[in-house]
Amino acid sequence: MMSLEERRAQFTKYKQDVKDRGKPFYPFAMFHDTIMSLVVVSIIIALACVWYFTSGEDPNTCGGKDSCLLGPRYAEPADPGTTNFVPRPDWYFYFLFYLLRIFKWPNSVILGTVGIPTILLIILIMMPFLDLRRERRVLRRPVAVVAAILTVLSMGVLTYKGATAKEALASEVKAAVPQWAQKQGFTNNKEAVAGANAFATSGCTACHTYLGTGGGNLGAPDLSAEGTKGKGVQGLQTYISDPSKFGNNVMPKFASLGDTTLHQIATFLDASKGPK
Ligand code: HEC
Repeated sequence: MMSLEERRAQFTKYKQDVKDRGKPFYPFAMFHDTIMSLVVVSIIIALACVWYFTSGEDPNTCGGKDSCLLGPRYAEPADPGTTNFVPRPDWYFYFLFYLLRIFKWPNSVILGTVGIPTILLIILIMMPFLDLRRERRVLRRPVAVVAAILTVLSMGVLTYKGATAKEALASEVKAAVPQWAQKQGFTNNKEAVAGANAFATSGCTACHTYLGTGGGNLGAPDLSAEGTKGKGVQGLQTYISDPSKFGNNVMPKFASLGDTTLHQIATFLDASKGPK
């Protein structure tokens, strides 16, 4: 900490500097900001016009996407009923996306999403009161510089990890089915194998884990040994068809899969007694 006299002297010097060389905020800085905002907004409007007038009403004008300057006006319509869509953020959110994978539901998610950002924000707000020195040369500010480098580095690493993270994609999960059948010993049970494939492609692994594959999200339990819980094929089928009847309001109803598929999935779960 500096002595009061020193800080007073520096403050007087600062005021003198402003008098000698400074410009008032109004109108100089405001004019500057207004011009810059106008430039940015004009660029956005110009890009929107280029996009609108080079693409057509017809979704096929661009013959896909590449021949329109900035992409087609319409792509495929959104399908709210899809179960095999894997949501991924744009690249600049990969670091946050990966943070959410590090903090597993439910114990540490509040810490990761609310706790840490709040602590960092408080530090940031307190910064002007903590760091009272007038020193601005980079090499004389080791703490700030190291903190900045660490921040950039960790965001870089998290972005990379987020970009290369493997999703529980239906096709990848499906590829694990023969291995599941072997480990659980239901290779010869056709109904169970069909159920395993249905399980792999119906979006169950977005929440549940099974022999190490899948999400582990929203508090969904591991299902590798579901068959040891004594629910029986019929009990499991009823459960999956409408879990809300059993007080589970997180898991969606899967009645729309149809009785045949539900029965297969239930048989598969009933045959899952944990790896041999
Ligand atoms: C949106 C997330 C989500 C999806 C998708 C999901 N589940 Fe669940 N499931 C849960 C949660 C959460 C629980 C635990 C509820 C509880 O403990 O009360 C659960 C419980 C279960 C249970 C009971 C487990 C036990 O031992 O109590 C079974 C069986 C089950 N799910 C099967 C499935 C199947 C099969 C699918 C796919 C067709 C599926 N789930 C899809 C979230 C999900």
